[in-house]
Amino acid sequence: MMDGKKSLTLSAPAKLNLTLDVLGRREDGYHEMRMVMTSVSLADQITLTVEPGEGVVITTDLGFLPVDGRNLAAVAAGRLQEATGADWGRLTVELRKQIPVCAGTAGGSSDAAAVLRGLNRLCGLGLSLSQLARIGERVGSDVPYCVMGGTVLAEGLGEKLTGLPALPKCWAVLIKPGFSVSTPELFAKLDGRRLQGHPDTAGMLEALERGELSGVARRLYNVFEEVLPPRRRALVEELKGELVDRGALGACMTGTGSTVYGLFSSQDQARAASDAMGKVWPETFLTHSL
Ligand code: C5P
Repeated sequence: MMDGKKSLTLSAPAKLNLTLDVLGRREDGYHEMRMVMTSVSLADQITLTVEPGEGVVITTDLGFLPVDGRNLAAVAAGRLQEATGADWGRLTVELRKQIPVCAGTAGGSSDAAAVLRGLNRLCGLGLSLSQLARIGERVGSDVPYCVMGGTVLAEGLGEKLTGLPALPKCWAVLIKPGFSVSTPELFAKLDGRRLQGHPDTAGMLEALERGELSGVARRLYNVFEEVLPPRRRALVEELKGELVDRGALGACMTGTGSTVYGLFSSQDQARAASDAMGKVWPETFLTHSL
């Protein structure tokens, strides 16, 4: 048990999929993935407090998020406790949300990863990032990536991580259209279907090696776009088109959506696109590479 009260505030960044490929379905129903992900400046702020007592209390400024054991922040604390046997007493997690929810931007996973990293520091548990990532696998598929952060190739279910050169400095405009997507449903739609296209993952890795933003932007690709219901797919296409018309070098959906983003080399063009499209789509965010 900790003596006294200790707090730590961390930033939990959103992720974007630069590529997302699904290679096949495994016996257990999960899918083999290959994806290039990157962290952006849009971030939730997480404050952890441990003090004598017991239990986990979650508070959030977003009324509709669960604050019980279903919140991934609570799941993460539980898995870390199981893995280490540590007793930190009573844990309070304050979530100040900026990342859109159920949007393909890993908001919940990033919060969970921040809980793992934060408790490790606050309680002096001495675990390495790869040990924390392994614990994160049991919280959700994107959590190991979020523990590492940065620009990464993620394979397997998302647990095989290879660090990559950072995304060249750029601006990203994110738009979450009104709909939320059920991840299991979208995965199920891929089964028994021959995809028409796949990302050029090797080309994406080369473009990152060369530090060439235009090469990255040209290769943004997400196989989930192909299996969206037709009207949603049309909306995603329309938003991508508008982002490119407003100066984005490339545009794509992230994760299982519904967030669509465009990458810009010009801050002015990114701001103008964000201002204009934000009038139509309230969940529009201007952010930049980290
Ligand atoms: O791991 P996570 O909770 O993010 O996964 C949500 C759901 O997405 C899983 O229950 C599964 O149906 C599907 N999924 C999958 N293959 C993956 C990751 C997730 O089929 N690699």
